[in-house]
Amino acid sequence: MAETLLELREISKSFGGVKALDRVSLTLKKGEIHCLAGENGSGKSTLIKIISGFYKSDHGAITFDGKTNKNLSISESIHMGIQVIYQDLSIFPNLTVMENISMNYELFNRKKIVNWKMKKRIAKESLEHIGISIPLNEPVENLSVADKQLVAIARSILYRVRLIIMDEPTSALTRNEVDKLFRVIRQLQSEGITILFVSHKLDEVFEISDRFTVLRNGKIIVTDSTANIDNDKFIYYMTGRQIREEYFSAGNRTRDTCLFKVENLSLTNAFKDVSFEIYPGEILGITGLLGSGRTELAKALFGLYKAGAGKIYVDNIPARIGSPRDAVKHGIAYVPEDRLTEGLFLNQSVRDNLAISSIDNLTERWGRVNKARLEKSTDSWVAKLSIKLNKTSDPISTLSGGNQQKAVLGKWLETKPRVLVLNGPTVGVDIGSKFDIHALLRSLAAEKKLAIILISDDIAEVLKNCNRILIINRGRIVNERINTDLDEKQLTALIMNRQEKTG
Ligand SMILES: Nc1ncnc2c1ncn2[C@@H]1O[C@H](COP(=O)(O)OP(=O)(O)OP(=O)(O)O)[C@@H](O)[C@H]1O
Ligand SMILES: [Mg+2]
Repeated sequence: MAETLLELREISKSFGGVKALDRVSLTLKKGEIHCLAGENGSGKSTLIKIISGFYKSDHGAITFDGKTNKNLSISESIHMGIQVIYQDLSIFPNLTVMENISMNYELFNRKKIVNWKMKKRIAKESLEHIGISIPLNEPVENLSVADKQLVAIARSILYRVRLIIMDEPTSALTRNEVDKLFRVIRQLQSEGITILFVSHKLDEVFEISDRFTVLRNGKIIVTDSTANIDNDKFIYYMTGRQIREEYFSAGNRTRDTCLFKVENLSLTNAFKDVSFEIYPGEILGITGLLGSGRTELAKALFGLYKAGAGKIYVDNIPARIGSPRDAVKHGIAYVPEDRLTEGLFLNQSVRDNLAISSIDNLTERWGRVNKARLEKSTDSWVAKLSIKLNKTSDPISTLSGGNQQKAVLGKWLETKPRVLVLNGPTVGVDIGSKFDIHALLRSLAAEKKLAIILISDDIAEVLKNCNRILIINRGRIVNERINTDLDEKQLTALIMNRQEKTG
């Protein structure tokens, strides 16, 4: 029987009228890997911030290694050996890998290392400790998300760390990178370190965790051994309902005119000779590894990048798409991957964020916004996408991560597009909402006859929801498949380029 490292007793926390945590009790054992799961807005990040001392609870107590406190301060929590890796990673982008790692050492030991050699040694040792090699002099802003994550981990183990908490560490990682991260997590576990991590991805929960806890509406639903559950049970704990997705089929497309077509589209250093067409009512999947050119392609379709060569047709008529304005004029909408920097105005209200792209539809003569219509349309998106919030006039920054992502989607759907380009639309979205978003996309295709281009590396998402799938590798479309001809394993193999080779 492993000893207890951390015990939370009856923790409650409210923000204004919202009860984010409602008498949450949870224990973490020494050396376990514990997954914290739950729908968007269920209170996971809030709970983590209470453990780290960032928030004070309204009620309850925290016992760490036998010592009980009502609340911890940030520095108490750090000195006890608790390290949190937040989703934004809070690393300094313009400093080098070495500086980022050694800076924490300085803070922890309350002394400044001026000795460049020592900084280098510390950084090198901590990276070696977790078996990772990243160039020490590289500015962190040049690294991939995965490597940034590993730098954050290397930095955290410099404290006498006992508990590492990771808030959605894998949401921006590809499968290979997740493997690398999991190796590091297992190594830390073998050294007796306890890991608490948040994930929405079921397969990861099953692969890595010893135990799991599910939160719903700020309450604990269950804590159990991962070995005691299966997929369906887990989904039921998360959502309170049974969910099963069928394969999407687009029906007969021959009667329709091709709605959107690209021909030999190329962008230097990004993608080359990309051609495809999409008919009304289709959901076309584009999938490939990070760096395969999929994001550049998405941006080029929306005029954010200007393709160097090739043609785009809308309704079989050549269309010039040199800017997002051109794209919008042709009925194209784009839901970006990175909601924080590309999708939202964080200080502004949920309502304004939802309206901002369709302001023309909501504006009357003399440029006055029709308030009633604005509110009605906002309310309808909040309901349709089950966005969890207090008031639509609250700043969008107070919404949980997944709910912000849903708002980005709503904002673009409000423009009533004909062609919808989605880049990783359900990253960070919980299982229940993910199914809801998928159902919405399917009905937009089937009933409203939209042409939807879904770019994603979530294998199950692409397979179940796209009637056709294009696989992109090093900037080229290397394969096209019908979804019902494939299973997850085969699609993964195609993405990894394990089977067929093309020129
Ligand atoms: N600073 C804040 N001000 C007001 N409300 C907040 C604040 N932080 C969180 N909330 C609210 O508390 C609830 C729990 O949010 P939290 O961020 O803990 O959810 P989460 O489980 O981490 O969700 P996600 O999976 O989307 O990240 C939500 O309803 C959220 O809107
Ligand atoms: Mg969160």
